[in-house]
Amino acid sequence: MLIHFIPKFASFAFLIFLMGSKIKKIAVFTSGGDSPGMNAAIRSVVRTCAYVKVDCIGIYRGYEGMIEGDFVPLNARSVNNIINKGGTFLKSARCSEFRTIEGRKKAYDQLKREGVDAMVVIGGDGSLAGAEVLYNEYNIPFTGIPGTIDNDIFGTRCTLGFDTALNTVVEAIDKIRDTASSHHRLFFVEVMGRDVGHIALNAGIGGGAEEILIPEEDLGLERLLDSLKRSKARGKSSSIVVVAEGDRTTGKNVYELKEYVEKNLPVYDVRVCVLGHMQRGGSPTCFDRVLASRMGVRAVEALLEGKTNLMVGIRDNTIILTPVSEAINGKTKIDRDLIRVSDIMTL
Ligand code: F6P
Repeated sequence: MLIHFIPKFASFAFLIFLMGSKIKKIAVFTSGGDSPGMNAAIRSVVRTCAYVKVDCIGIYRGYEGMIEGDFVPLNARSVNNIINKGGTFLKSARCSEFRTIEGRKKAYDQLKREGVDAMVVIGGDGSLAGAEVLYNEYNIPFTGIPGTIDNDIFGTRCTLGFDTALNTVVEAIDKIRDTASSHHRLFFVEVMGRDVGHIALNAGIGGGAEEILIPEEDLGLERLLDSLKRSKARGKSSSIVVVAEGDRTTGKNVYELKEYVEKNLPVYDVRVCVLGHMQRGGSPTCFDRVLASRMGVRAVEALLEGKTNLMVGIRDNTIILTPVSEAINGKTKIDRDLIRVSDIMTL
């Protein structure tokens, strides 16, 4: 087989040349909620394309820009000085028109006019699902990079931006702790995570939270009250309870929880802090920058190897590929050991 005669040190570009990929132009775009590391991922896709001498264009505003033909040619120099920047310089959007057959037809026409052979989509499950629908209708190959702070995509231990968001949340909790302990107060801190508790659980442990409320585990209002009573009895002067925004287990939002605790445990002076969108901003951590760089390279490589409908992920520090259908339909699981550790830490 020819492959045996290729020296081990043969470059990726050389291999692609030998394989004679039909892909000459790749479009990259970010879609859905932004996450730190998206710029680093765009940079990686663009530079990998330049490395293998494949044209690259960026699509502004995700599927919205695709429908409007809002494209920009990108070369290695277009992505200078963005590895450290939060947000996405290609902008992002949640696009309802793309959900329609007419919208997708417009998007396809624009891509065809531009001569796009394949795409790399950077975004959450909805964004990956959009590319899959377009593939099913128009056969445009694509790979996906999971970009969301929620870490709610199957097929990767962590999504792009999750690590940065955790660090942002822990920094915020540290600051809240300063004021909580100065005033002997209890704080309910709401963190992002539309349907999952990964941010809450990890940042809760990292921030030394008294209790952590997540959708995956029903703590129950009674146990929460008991736990807070015990903290007081043990002489704790302040407490932080981290609540995932997607938590419905108590049937109460953070403001209702405040009222409930004040009514049932009047010894507590309670405050609420909803961290909100600040969790999505900021310079990506080194971990997210490296992850973005690795994922971008693999996303382009996979396309040039003739693969499609795959999402790049990381497991055991190895970059892996998972069919997008599995990634968007599979469920991420909470690490049960973290719940055990959190319970022990509340002593
Ligand atoms: O999916 C990421 C996320 O930040 C969720 O945690 C949050 O529920 C949602 O996006 C907020 O969306 P938007 O920016 O559209 O308000």
